[in-house]
Amino acid sequence: MSKTYRRIVLASRPTGWVMPENFRLETLPIPSPGPNEVLVRNHYLSLDPYMRGRMNEGKSYAQPQEIGATMIGATVGEVVASHHRAFTVGNHVRGMLGWSEFGVVNGKALERIDTRKIPMSAYLGIVGMPGMAAWYGYHKILAPKAGETLVVSAASGAVGSVVGQLAKLGGLRAVGIAGGPEKCRYVTDELGFDACVDYRGAKDAEALTQALRIAAPKGVDAHFENVGGDALNAVMNLLNPFARVAICGLISDYNNERGVVPHSAIRNPAVFLVARIKMQGFIVSDHLELWPQGLTDLGALLVAGKLKFRETIAENLARAPEAFIGLLRGRNVGKQIVKLV
Ligand SMILES: NC(=O)c1ccc[n+]([C@@H]2O[C@H](COP(=O)([O-])OP(=O)(O)OC[C@H]3O[C@@H](n4cnc5c(N)ncnc54)[C@H](OP(=O)(O)O)[C@@H]3O)[C@@H](O)[C@H]2O)c1
Repeated sequence: MSKTYRRIVLASRPTGWVMPENFRLETLPIPSPGPNEVLVRNHYLSLDPYMRGRMNEGKSYAQPQEIGATMIGATVGEVVASHHRAFTVGNHVRGMLGWSEFGVVNGKALERIDTRKIPMSAYLGIVGMPGMAAWYGYHKILAPKAGETLVVSAASGAVGSVVGQLAKLGGLRAVGIAGGPEKCRYVTDELGFDACVDYRGAKDAEALTQALRIAAPKGVDAHFENVGGDALNAVMNLLNPFARVAICGLISDYNNERGVVPHSAIRNPAVFLVARIKMQGFIVSDHLELWPQGLTDLGALLVAGKLKFRETIAENLARAPEAFIGLLRGRNVGKQIVKLV
């Protein structure tokens, strides 16, 4: 085994769009685990939109990432050395070891994963944090009933693809919003949504509303928002009385420079009153007590062949910055992963 490993640190904070020079690749000696610690070789790294917020200076719902520190990130991998009684060499584990090929961590911060029926990388997506965000927003905020219509934006992505499939399993009409015909074809033909609106193909906000009106002819009862902006405003125009809106993410604003009016600003607040709407944001890590239930549920559906997923995989840690910028620009289909081994 090599005596060194590579990691990527935050070199500088972006203003606006993330650039490759905001990251730095470093080579370090592989550390030895201390008491209760475990050395893990990471096989896959998850790239997620929330990382963009951590690159900013100010506190959001979480503390910012420090300059010079390993970029934050969920990982799955294999135990290489263990001084913790719950782990032995060869165990497959999930942790938050960051953009790094190896990591040493207290065993308390690791979780065993069972890769006999579910591939290791899926523990970063459909049976990981993004799947859990879909499960939580769908069941605990939208709580839709069979026969209702649900819309989800970024429908081909890690979270959105699960939301729409849960809706189909629940007997709803599932409508996706996605960027481009290829993503929309994936959403309807492979994931089984009833319709998908390509927002990039709509010439203006009115055309987008019109396309959504056709895709959701009975109006919208439940909306799962991942993006914000024109699509959110278009869906707001179509909400039925007592509709629920779950705000999971507003990715179209994550690369704004400070002080810019959010692209996601809601243009017609009267709809809250007229249609008696409930809108609620959530952060999935606030609900850790529900993760065992949600992830067991999702895992069972996956193993039974009732949920599908796709991954966009970048090979090699050095390509993580480029893949992360691609995720923020919508180049991924499904879960964006970096393969490290
Ligand atoms: N609240 C929580 O706890 C929680 C947890 C996980 C994720 N999230 C949020 O959920 C959303 C989806 O996350 P994900 O991991 O599933 O990502 P993802 O959907 O796999 O990837 C991001 C997608 O966003 C779409 N997008 C739409 N407009 C965009 C714009 N203006 N700029 C960039 N991308 C745009 C792109 O798809 P199109 O090409 O289809 O537009 C892109 O592929 C994000 O907002 C994320 O922050 C929240």
